[in-house]
Amino acid sequence: MARRRLHATAPARERAWLVAVDAPGAPLPAADSLTELAELARTAGAVVAGRSTQRRDRPRPATYIGAGKLREVADACAAHRARTVIFDDELSPAQQRNLEEALGLKVLDRTALILDIFALRASTREGRLQVELAQTEYLLPRLRGQWSHLERMEGAIGLRGPGETQIESDRRLVRRRMAKLRRDLDQVRTQRELYRRQRRRAGAPVVALVGYTNAGKTTLMRALCGASVRPEDKLFATLDPVTRKLALPSGRTALLTDTVGFIQKLPLQLVAAFRATLEELEDAEALLHVVDASHPHAAVHAATVEDALRELSVLGRPMIVARNKIDALARADGAEPADEREARALAAAAAPASDGQRPVSAARGWGVEGLRAAIDETLAATPA
Ligand code: GTP
Repeated sequence: MARRRLHATAPARERAWLVAVDAPGAPLPAADSLTELAELARTAGAVVAGRSTQRRDRPRPATYIGAGKLREVADACAAHRARTVIFDDELSPAQQRNLEEALGLKVLDRTALILDIFALRASTREGRLQVELAQTEYLLPRLRGQWSHLERMEGAIGLRGPGETQIESDRRLVRRRMAKLRRDLDQVRTQRELYRRQRRRAGAPVVALVGYTNAGKTTLMRALCGASVRPEDKLFATLDPVTRKLALPSGRTALLTDTVGFIQKLPLQLVAAFRATLEELEDAEALLHVVDASHPHAAVHAATVEDALRELSVLGRPMIVARNKIDALARADGAEPADEREARALAAAAAPASDGQRPVSAARGWGVEGLRAAIDETLAATPA
């Protein structure tokens, strides 16, 4: 199989136009969802040339947006030299095909973009296998669409036969590749299971870091463990779980494990593919949920993470919420707080301390010792 085709975004600095439908009742207004999509596009290496939104009750079945809007997007792309159009939801294979035909441009969706970023990020063998499996699952129903362009280019009657055969053999190859990926993953997982069993025997309780992408999990892990982990201002910098020892005030040692960040509309194929990595969560005695308290949509982010945890059946675990980035909270005059005391006061005004949330700044080290004590107390209260 031509592996190159699995990568959705080709050369770096590709100019992209973003499109979203502003539907009533969506968790985020389209403009904010597009800001997130722009961040994803930037992480994938694209330059965002501009964006369009359309108010509709739901995306149009054939082309996601209406015909008039489609013309507007085509004109805008021509004017701004955008060669790629990225849609903010997962497009059906038919929608993608129709849009590519109507626009004459490369069409991607949020799912392809996230898969692409994961492909760029995966560094361990398991991570790479998981991402490739998710990509092939996404690709399989779209194969016909991709090949139909070639068929038409070849055009003439009589050439269609070989085209069909090509699709069929390509599908067979993809399926064979998927089966191989699943077998390889099984093998890697057996090793992981052994490792987990050893760890359980060693008896150190596991605390799992969870959070929306870019919330500051890696930075907090570094603040807590002094570990050589590198935070990055890019989405999904953390793909493969990293585990570090965490010394607690009582003298006990816990294991802190980082997990993949969550995001709105996380592709189903990815959640399925990453289920094994997320199984690390099942071993966790407690969850440390990191929220970027300075983000205007912190509440939506926190709810997205909790929904995902519920789906993974780990929401019942004791959970400590670290309200991170309090150094970046805005005062009434728009300025950032001058010191820790002021930052804490702002955090307390935004969310009462009574609901067990811990204000911290992982970057500045504020509140980190208090958080360490809270983890200790939570573990002490948790039956082994
Ligand atoms: P993913 O890998 O996407 O899941 O990200 P993450 O949750 O591991 O976030 P990471 O630690 O990589 O931090 C993301 C960005 O937020 C980086 O640019 C950090 O420097 C920044 N950051 C983290 N903690 C703080 C904080 O307390 N204050 C401020 N102002 N920025 C922070």
